[in-house]
Amino acid sequence: MPVQWAGLSPELLLTVDRDSGDRLCAQLERQLRDAIRSGRLQAGERLPSSRELARALGLSRGLVQDCYGQLQAEGYLVTRVGSATRVAACAQVAPVPATAPPDARPRLIADFRHGVPDLASFPLADWLWATREAARTMPTAEFDYGDPRGSSALREVVAGYLRRVRGAAADPARTVVCSGYAQGLSLALRALARRGVRVVAYEDPGGPATARAAADAAGLTAVPVPVDEDGLDVRALDATGARAVIVTPAHQWPTGVVLTPARRHTLVEWAARRDAYVIEDDYDAEFRYDREPVGALQGLAADRVISIGTVSKSLAPALRLGWLLCPPALVDAITDLKRIADRGSPSLDQLALARLIESGRYDRHLRRMRTTYATRRTALVEALARHAPAVRLSGLAAGFHAVAHLPEGVGERVVVAEARSRGVGLYGMSACRASGDEAPALLILGFGDVPERAIVAGVAAVGDVLGGRA
Ligand SMILES: Cc1ncc(COP(=O)(O)O)c(C=O)c1O
Repeated sequence: MPVQWAGLSPELLLTVDRDSGDRLCAQLERQLRDAIRSGRLQAGERLPSSRELARALGLSRGLVQDCYGQLQAEGYLVTRVGSATRVAACAQVAPVPATAPPDARPRLIADFRHGVPDLASFPLADWLWATREAARTMPTAEFDYGDPRGSSALREVVAGYLRRVRGAAADPARTVVCSGYAQGLSLALRALARRGVRVVAYEDPGGPATARAAADAAGLTAVPVPVDEDGLDVRALDATGARAVIVTPAHQWPTGVVLTPARRHTLVEWAARRDAYVIEDDYDAEFRYDREPVGALQGLAADRVISIGTVSKSLAPALRLGWLLCPPALVDAITDLKRIADRGSPSLDQLALARLIESGRYDRHLRRMRTTYATRRTALVEALARHAPAVRLSGLAAGFHAVAHLPEGVGERVVVAEARSRGVGLYGMSACRASGDEAPALLILGFGDVPERAIVAGVAAVGDVLGGRA
């Protein structure tokens, strides 16, 4: 599909060389032919009017009209009375390489992918309201390059919010707005590398690919540390010699265990003793079903913990907005790295998020989503109990994924492949293990973006496979 330029189409980059001795009309014809043949101008795309193009190139309008007439006669252009001159449908010679659409996922009965909230529930009306409010009240000075830490309005609101809701020791001066956890992690690791940290540990199981890639890009070595039922094994961490660790204390990714109070204290004590830092991925803190949310680790040791938050799960990944709460020793380095990375996140979006949070609409959305996810969680538990009773679930206290323990003798890869052939997307734990091992056979069942009906239909379609009866 060619771009349907509305109103005045953009200018067209063409040049004429008055000293070449070549006729100007011939030069123009050649360049337009080349642009059409190479696909720079696509079939159906609109050309500037002869008057606009003549003005832009400093040529007479008659010359441009002659040129268009010639290309029309050759079949490159079409002109209808009262309508713009366009590239003819069959004029293209060089095929434009087809690019796969980014959302080319096959249609499935249910896709239990994880890490994605219910996209259909994005609070669009609230976001539009917040954006309009932000744009309407945005001081002119805010259109300039700003503080690389982000808009002071958002930093104030986020710090206040995290103090209240997460028990964080949040100071707006040490809050840096970033484009989600991914950028937050990259900034934190690079800042630590500047301070001489060489090895960063990560939870196993966890996100080995993300941790290794981010560490590698920052020039660090990433080492795995096991997680047990109390969370990260701090004694094993101590043995690695690492001076930084990435943890998910509120709801460990992906096992769902909570870092116990005793382990929290041991971890903070480890950081002080080793002159080390903890990178807290404040993951899944928003959605707890069993009791009040567990406070942020950062509240215990603001000088040793870099806490990273994101709206990817509370609102939508597409917003690319998050924040870092920085220890005093790292805030300058992180600010400097953010400036180098992109000079600061987009101001209008930051102000819109600030309005959304301070108006109470953000919390209202979270409350609504807690109910939605709790209903989906129940649907998953009941569907599994009915169609695959041999499967045990864990990690359900928060977030929107569960860990499914497959019965003895049932292999992860076989289940995932068989389910896919029946139109159900399942994902194994092996991708979360540093070793890549497929045993013990576990699945991570994301239900955030799977409607209740699809959960029931999806589980029904693969119940026998999950239970080892296929
Ligand atoms: C463990 C973990 N933390 C955080 C995030 C959010 O990342 P971002 O804020 O870059 O979207 C994800 C996304 O899937 C994740 O898997």
